[in-house]
Amino acid sequence: MRDSAKKLVSPGSAWSFPDGVTYLNHGSFGPSPKPVLDAQVEWTRRLEQNPMTFLIHECEDALEASLGSLAKFVGTSRGNLVFVDNATFAMNIVAASVELQPGDEVLLNDHEYGAVLRIWRRRCQDAGARLVVAELPDPPTSHDAIVERLFESVSDRTRLIVISHVTSPTALVLPVEEVCRRARERGIVTCVDGPHALATIDISLRTLDCDFYCASCHKWLSAPFGSGFLFVNPRWQKRVRPAIVSWGGSIGGRQPSWKDEFVWLGTRNPAAFLATAAAVDFFDSAMLARFREHSRGLTELATRLICEMTGRSPIEAGDESRCPSMISLEIPPIADVPPPGQRDPLQNRLREEAGIEIPIVHWQGRRLLRVSAHLYNSTADIDHLAATMRRDCQSSRV
Ligand SMILES: Cc1ncc(COP(=O)(O)O)c(C=O)c1O
Repeated sequence: MRDSAKKLVSPGSAWSFPDGVTYLNHGSFGPSPKPVLDAQVEWTRRLEQNPMTFLIHECEDALEASLGSLAKFVGTSRGNLVFVDNATFAMNIVAASVELQPGDEVLLNDHEYGAVLRIWRRRCQDAGARLVVAELPDPPTSHDAIVERLFESVSDRTRLIVISHVTSPTALVLPVEEVCRRARERGIVTCVDGPHALATIDISLRTLDCDFYCASCHKWLSAPFGSGFLFVNPRWQKRVRPAIVSWGGSIGGRQPSWKDEFVWLGTRNPAAFLATAAAVDFFDSAMLARFREHSRGLTELATRLICEMTGRSPIEAGDESRCPSMISLEIPPIADVPPPGQRDPLQNRLREEAGIEIPIVHWQGRRLLRVSAHLYNSTADIDHLAATMRRDCQSSRV
């Protein structure tokens, strides 16, 4: 797999899209490059060839090997990771595991992902605990200012802090290292929500020393859809509880481990997990550097062109908050904000009239265009976006 990826003169050619589609939303749903798709097909073929042999005798070792590649990539040992379908699944395991007493507080902030807020709102309601949503500084001038503001909302009752490594609506890298360090000093549990950090920035779970880290591999790492992981710090491994109960126990009959409850979740095709190693292989250090440099150039171009058009500045908290591959840019508001679950009319027009797939989110009274760039995107894609927006703007429909 690694060799085939390296031979690509243009790594972007490992992806293919239908003619007429300009895909600028890897941040929501990241399609896989060909070597990863090939690996997924090959694992499925092996499963289908003899499911008994594969599921009973081979699968667990293969999963551990794939997890080993991923563990190296995120700076931990594979004994601390389990595969899960996605970050949402991982977060639900954390919610099922952290004990909360009436009056305890769980601290999130106003840049967190909507589904994560829902998970913790429900969990707090069930426990009689209080969900506290800190308002980060606006504009978020620096990492220090963000940490200070977050800790202003910490009280003696704060049991857990849930924080994105890279935020979804605003595409900001948050100062998770410092937040985890200060939380440890106060005995507060930390859960980092990291789907956008995987591959876009370096992750060392050993250094971060959070209690839990949730991620989806099917975003920037471009592993198959339905692949994610949960990191559980050794100090939690005896206490972590599955969100789905199945047989537990190791199929292969190895030594009991905390992972036993998480590996066999009923019968399923594990090809997405197994092919995650192919995605890690694809992103060897040279490819990773190339991806980050290339995508940074494109998001900078998008920032320049869109901000020139709107006269607004991007949301940022200094260079340290800059995610290379994703940027959220404010565009003029509209009177009729679409209700939750419905798309912005401009998002529909971009898709229908110009083939551009890009999300527009309404967040804290702002209308944000979130531009994602990956190895397959080019300056032509960004120019196409800007030109279409400009035309739309001139017909004053933005
Ligand atoms: C910050 C953040 N957390 C969690 C999720 C959920 O990821 P998934 O849908 O892969 O579970 C997302 C998805 O976009 C996200 O942006």
